[in-house]
Amino acid sequence: MIPEPLTQLGLPLEAQENWSRNWELSQASFPKEGVFFVQEDFLREVAEISRLRQEARPALFASGRQIRENEPLSRLAWHCHWLAHLATAEERGEVSPYSHDPKANAPLGCTFFSGIIAMAALPRIKAYYTERAIPMSVLSDSALALDIWAEDYFVKHGVWGCDHAAWVLQHTVPTLFRLGRLEFQFGAFRSHGFSFYCNKKNGELAILAPPDMPVADEGYFAQSDQKADFTTTFVVTDTSVTGYQAQANGRLAYAPVTLPLADWEVAFTEGDKMINVHIPACAPLEYELTRDSFRICREFFAKYFPGFAYKGFQCGSWLLDSSFNRFLPPTSNIVRFQSLFQLFPAPKANDWQHRERVFGNPDLPLDQVPQKTSLQKILKREILNGFRFRSGLGLIPR
Ligand SMILES: CC(C)(COP(=O)(O)OP(=O)(O)OC[C@H]1O[C@@H](n2cnc3c(N)ncnc32)[C@H](O)[C@@H]1OP(=O)(O)O)[C@@H](O)C(=O)NCCC(=O)NCCS
Repeated sequence: MIPEPLTQLGLPLEAQENWSRNWELSQASFPKEGVFFVQEDFLREVAEISRLRQEARPALFASGRQIRENEPLSRLAWHCHWLAHLATAEERGEVSPYSHDPKANAPLGCTFFSGIIAMAALPRIKAYYTERAIPMSVLSDSALALDIWAEDYFVKHGVWGCDHAAWVLQHTVPTLFRLGRLEFQFGAFRSHGFSFYCNKKNGELAILAPPDMPVADEGYFAQSDQKADFTTTFVVTDTSVTGYQAQANGRLAYAPVTLPLADWEVAFTEGDKMINVHIPACAPLEYELTRDSFRICREFFAKYFPGFAYKGFQCGSWLLDSSFNRFLPPTSNIVRFQSLFQLFPAPKANDWQHRERVFGNPDLPLDQVPQKTSLQKILKREILNGFRFRSGLGLIPR
């Protein structure tokens, strides 16, 4: 049975069903005197801390007012806040505070609804920073995510809002910090099936592909409609390991390599503590700034989280597509950013994220995609030529 307030908000049925679960639990603490995080003063503080651009602020305040003046909307806001910030994992179960459906994230046209829910964690996150003596400027830089996603919303919908709250929430848990140009997040190592060996003498890292993977296109994993040039193998004996190594160009070698275990040892295993690297939109990815960002991050984690014994940095992104250096000049920020990483190909990779990030919409037919920047032109031209772009993976040992 769907609770009555949820039926009054024009929500898609799936969202109604999702949010019906646990409804009674959250409503038991619903503050009848008013929800604190939709009050004007609170939202002013959110706008200040996140440096939300001035032109977006009226929409933020209008969303707050709309929630305050509509009880079903207030109750849903409280429910989502409860799911995101108050409920225990057991109480929350599988229910997400956010939906993938844009209509559910902006109920009754309340465009900042899910951004406001994410920022409802502000009092807790401020306490977290204070307790650890982390400068509030880091919180402010991290909360910039609200502004970045508000711009994305404006570009896509022509009005100000924020429905990428699941991402903004990462900043408010907080698991993620913006330090200089880049964002860094507590993470656990994901091997993607690869094996990682370190040379005991010189520290060199060898990345060996998982077995039984078809390979095509000069060293990328074959896509389902492609004929493979060969299939990978991976064999460990008492004295050596043999496999297909990722080369400096980010692609797999076409012949296997054998590493003697007298000289090589396992460097990373699934679940090792790592720092995930994210690249927020907002400004060019200048090389010096990104390098500086890693330096700031190393100092930051050493100072504020000395117990977090991470083994390195990992990143998966369209920006780590190692084929870019064929098309973009060596001076391109993306190409220079890639040089910071040891690159390797991602199993099952495709160009979905390229099309989303470069054309603004992954589903746009190629005859309608924007053609303003050189990368937009390259992507369209090469996809039409049959070239396959693929997101890539990158690693930087600590
Ligand atoms: C990361 C980012 C700032 C890099 O842009 P940049 O610093 O301009 O990078 P480059 O110098 O390598 O750009 C080379 C060319 O590609 C263009 N380009 C780069 N990223 C682009 C993008 N996302 N969309 C369209 N064009 C892009 C540049 O405008 C430039 O074109 P020009 O030669 O006509 O001037 C940009 O891609 C961006 O904002 N991306 C969004 C965030 C993102 O994708 N994060 C990763 C999520 S996993």
